Amino acid sequence: MDAETIISVLQTRVIGREILCLDTVDSTNRYARELAEHGAAEGVVVLAEEQTRGRGRLDRTWHSPPGLGLWFSLILRPPIAPAAAPGLSLLTGLAVAKAIESQLHITADLKWPNDCLLYDKKTAGILIDLAAEAKSVRFIVVGIGINVRLLTDDFPPELRETATSLAVAAGHSVDRETILAAVLTEFETDYFRFLAEGLTPTIGPYTRRCGLIGCQVDILAGRKTIRGTAVRIDPSGALVLVANGQEHVLMAGEVTRVRKTGTI
Ligand code: BTN
Repeated sequence: MDAETIISVLQTRVIGREILCLDTVDSTNRYARELAEHGAAEGVVVLAEEQTRGRGRLDRTWHSPPGLGLWFSLILRPPIAPAAAPGLSLLTGLAVAKAIESQLHITADLKWPNDCLLYDKKTAGILIDLAAEAKSVRFIVVGIGINVRLLTDDFPPELRETATSLAVAAGHSVDRETILAAVLTEFETDYFRFLAEGLTPTIGPYTRRCGLIGCQVDILAGRKTIRGTAVRIDPSGALVLVANGQEHVLMAGEVTRVRKTGTI
């Protein structure tokens, strides 16, 4: 992928005005974090054709083969409190979902907090790294992995049941530059609205795409698994679960859907 070509078609003001395209890197999040520590500006994008140690949430690895996906990280310097940072991960998931929908005309499903699914299989994931003082954020690295051109055989066998790509879901080849430009454009609009108005404008569009709401789910939060019905996303971006008549407000966790209907 060529940075000049992407920048020339991109209509954003800040996000992606500088794009660094690498052939191979261990992790774009790790690389972007280092750049940010050395003063890189808000909006810088680090993108790699291949990651040799792509990181996922919960210390998982992220399969990032050469030339088949969008593996990239954005550097942000938002004037927000550290407690507001998790909201950015919902916002990013929503931006990815909207970009996919606008380019491929397929409805994307968001699995809280930020997995993006197509036809019930994971297509994109987001990993946020935060550098903060007690009351302020120094910078945030938003890592985004989108399986774009992988075909079923390109996934390791253990992922084939649960992961998919844009090309498989759409049934035709998909251009990575087009998807990248759409994601950065959606992200920029939503990000500046978030800075001005907080997370509230994200919650409605996010909830409409969140297939977990109304379902019975298991959520692993810390060492505890809670089974209950996912009832809503609250204004802070937390998932609200009702279990045995009691509400649980969860800021983080790993969710598994048990049934498509729930009881309260
Ligand atoms: C997840 O769903 O577990 C999050 C996956 C995040 C993967 C992306 S790929 C670009 C960036 N660099 C990394 O090492 N991880 C993120």
